[in-house]
Amino acid sequence: MKSQRLHIAIQKSGRLAEKSLDLIRAAGFRLTRSAGDLAYSVENAPIDLWCVRDDDIPTFVADGVADFGIVGRNVLAERADGANDDGLVEVMPLGFGRCRLCIAAPEGFVYDGARGLNGLRVATTYPNLLRRFLKARRLDADIVTMRGAVEVAPRLKLAEAICDLVSTGATLDANGLEAFETILESEAVLVRGAGDLAPELRRAADSVVARFKGVVASQGAKYVMMNAPRAALPEIIEILPGAEAPTVTPLAGRDDAVAVHAVCQESVFWETLEALKATGASAILVLPIEKMM
Ligand code: PRP
Ligand code: ZN
Repeated sequence: MKSQRLHIAIQKSGRLAEKSLDLIRAAGFRLTRSAGDLAYSVENAPIDLWCVRDDDIPTFVADGVADFGIVGRNVLAERADGANDDGLVEVMPLGFGRCRLCIAAPEGFVYDGARGLNGLRVATTYPNLLRRFLKARRLDADIVTMRGAVEVAPRLKLAEAICDLVSTGATLDANGLEAFETILESEAVLVRGAGDLAPELRRAADSVVARFKGVVASQGAKYVMMNAPRAALPEIIEILPGAEAPTVTPLAGRDDAVAVHAVCQESVFWETLEALKATGASAILVLPIEKMM
């Protein structure tokens, strides 16, 4: 009989592991460990998590062993090529685990555009993405495929350049390397397989997607309240970052002023508050938003 629980594959350890769990908890799913450190079970919904190597997540989802996966777009992109189209669907970006897949070389390397890679050896754990990049630019470089620790390749004279993920840049710095070119922008995404879900799992799946959307949307979003001159309203709406139609209510005993409440989708900086104040707004409050749907 088919499982009555929805399965989500997440990274067991690495850059996305802890943040994937944070997202799931922020979505209101209570987790208990099961099967040692290989799985979690959600107490308040029919959902199980499987903790696996990130590179295995697309396979788990494509084979239908897991219904969803949380994985870097870089891992999906490396796997997807013409010959291996497994129909995985990116449901939504998750707003964490941002990084870039870059061409890098030892500091002092004179990078005169991508053409400079002609005839060089480039070490990477992303041979498919690198091959596509080289092909699109009609470049002829040798790809040295490694399983990890690509950043040491130039020092070991295995390659003149590398193609690797850069997140904070600390790994490149520590190895005297410099990034010259970005070939892919990546972040964690929610992915699902091509097939239809079993009807009994759809509710749980819809709830996962809706709640994740809520968590992602509320990140950085703020609830902003202020009193303002009625005449300044158009200007205030301009200034508020990513706010749709704010709520405007009268202030007791004041015809010339109103209270303005708005949800701002983007970060509200001190500069924003100063600009609001300059329009005559006062009593400006910026509040965090816990959930949004
Ligand atoms: C990437 C990459 C570097 C590091 C860069 O590995 O291979 O080692 O992250 O990050 P930094 O710019 O913050 O120093 P990742 O953590 O994705 O591990 P994996 O390739 O083994 O999955
Ligand atoms: Zn990996």
